[in-house]
Amino acid sequence: MKMAIFNTKSYERDFFVRHNQSGQHELDFLEPHLDSQTAALAAGYPAVCVFVNDDLSAPVLNQLAANGTQLIALRSAGFNHVDLPEAQRLGLTVVRVPAYSPHAVAEHTVALMLSLNRRIHRAYNRVREGNFTLNGLMGFDLYGRTAGIIGTGRIGRVLAQILIGFGMRVIAHDPIENDRCKALGLHYVSLDALFEQADVVSLNCPLTPDTHHLINHASIARMKPGVMLINTSRGAIVDSRAVLDGLKTRKIGHLGLDVYEEEADLFFEDLSNQVIQDDVFMRLLTFPNVLITAHQAFFTEDALNNIVSITLNNVRTFELTGRCDNEVSSDLMA
Ligand code: NAI
Repeated sequence: MKMAIFNTKSYERDFFVRHNQSGQHELDFLEPHLDSQTAALAAGYPAVCVFVNDDLSAPVLNQLAANGTQLIALRSAGFNHVDLPEAQRLGLTVVRVPAYSPHAVAEHTVALMLSLNRRIHRAYNRVREGNFTLNGLMGFDLYGRTAGIIGTGRIGRVLAQILIGFGMRVIAHDPIENDRCKALGLHYVSLDALFEQADVVSLNCPLTPDTHHLINHASIARMKPGVMLINTSRGAIVDSRAVLDGLKTRKIGHLGLDVYEEEADLFFEDLSNQVIQDDVFMRLLTFPNVLITAHQAFFTEDALNNIVSITLNNVRTFELTGRCDNEVSSDLMA
């Protein structure tokens, strides 16, 4: 199928070329993000491929449909950036990669936890400067502490498995309880009980109207003093201003983010020569107990191989049958 791949980075291009060696798809790599300014570039392409920071709002979808696009292939699991009811109304099929490596994201979540706890980000700089003191670097044993996982789907379950391996007590909240998680020794509790008991809270649920700003002033108030909060899911699950207040009062002892509510204006680009205008983000960077990565939890070789092969397979299946098991429908938003 002829496909315009928007927002392509060089590292992704290599994977697409390798997985399309048989030449079954005609792939064109475009550097710009998809938005209302660039949607015209998709004219004549029955398929477009996009990433999490592309704009798939109603005006953009209307432009794509008017120019002959039939299929939108998301090279991501999350689809909160797509106006699905509008896509459905326009007859656009949206497909995604529901699972490519839950291990990649779960392992990065643990990397943030360990780095924050043992202050690896600070120790690294200190030692490079010849400062071998330990003041301010004290951590705590994860063994015996309580981890609270919000969302025990593919990623949450792998995370639970790792943390149980550390000897942590793992509790979780999810409207759908998972028997495989229970078999690991994880206990489901109410959201309030999770906030009250967890030393480490990890967000692993999707962004939906229900989870938008799930972490807010009220939920932070319920948490243990000095709690560690980790978000590798979607930025808007956390109210960033409430978290700033929680850090200032020391209620939040450690904050690890791989996603940020306003990341679309920042992440995946080199802005090192620019003045960043987002004051909340810049304030977060000033705390010694905050560690932010720029949406890289998925970024392993194994995950990219899966993302690209599943994406090309989604496109092939749609081309041959007009359908695809990995289609996203608006009921998934519920
Ligand atoms: P999944 O669909 O397998 O699991 C999500 C779980 O969250 C389900 O068990 C669901 O019942 C639960 N859930 C839904 N609403 C909830 C609520 N209100 N409270 C608690 N739990 C709720 O998804 P998966 O693959 O585990 O991914 C989770 C999220 O991780 C994705 O939605 C995506 O936003 C994020 N993600 C982040 C990546 C990164 O690079 N940082 C990469 C891949 C995914």
